[in-house]
Amino acid sequence: MINRAIELVRRSVRPLVFTGAGMSRESGMRTFRGDDGLWKEYRPEQLSSIAGLRSDPGVVWDWYKMRLMTGEGVEPHAGYHALTCLQNEKGELPVITQNVDGLHKLAGQTDVLEIHGSMRTASCLEKCGFSTGLTPELLHGAPTPPVCPSCGAVLRPDIVLFGEPLPPKIISRSYELAEDCDLIIVVGTSVQVWPAAGIPFAALENGAIVIEINPAQTELPQSESVISLRRKAGEILPLLAGLKGKV
Ligand code: OAD
Repeated sequence: MINRAIELVRRSVRPLVFTGAGMSRESGMRTFRGDDGLWKEYRPEQLSSIAGLRSDPGVVWDWYKMRLMTGEGVEPHAGYHALTCLQNEKGELPVITQNVDGLHKLAGQTDVLEIHGSMRTASCLEKCGFSTGLTPELLHGAPTPPVCPSCGAVLRPDIVLFGEPLPPKIISRSYELAEDCDLIIVVGTSVQVWPAAGIPFAALENGAIVIEINPAQTELPQSESVISLRRKAGEILPLLAGLKGKV
């Protein structure tokens, strides 16, 4: 199965990548669902929602500071570097990610669509126009919640919170890419959170082949057009990119 997948990637002329939290698992980031998932321990409706941020910004920021500090020093693993090589080789390989950790860009990838935003920057909750990088000073030194130096409102991490729409231009380009691609590599996502989850289905409905990399079964169907490789991203992506011998 892996050899067929390698050949399909090699031959693809309009490939696309779609990633989720499992893509960063081998870099040390936690996933959301599953046995050691964040949502087993924390409540998304309080910690990752616009209503929670407005009603209790201190609690929400404590949580993001914890996640950001956990993410400090986190480096892209071999699977990320393999994707960068593949992108360079193909010339064009858009990467749609649900992740907010910024690792695709850190690995040197371009044309990265962060559909759930980024936790590497923050901006004014009241939209006065202030925005800043989430620097170590802001994380370690500032009061919680951090406030906007320009207007005094609370700052917010630049991620999409539950209760907010996805960035319209990014989501519409993502669907256009999905409808036009001939192959989509789906890595480390449970394919459960919509509208992002619709992206591989849109590709499939428009005739693309899906190559899924995930040790666990997901919502994607079992069909001729779906190749499910039940192993880890860091093991499989270097093979798909042709960086290691076939198996
Ligand atoms: P999930 O936590 O739902 O799913 C992670 C998937 O990664 C699971 O299917 C795991 O089996 C798989 N996985 C774990 N380790 C892996 C590895 N080493 N290699 C490959 N796969 C691995 O994460 P997402 O699907 O990304 O939304 O979750 C989607 C959204 O739900 C997130 O973006 C976040 C969350 O609520 C927002 O914050 C808006």
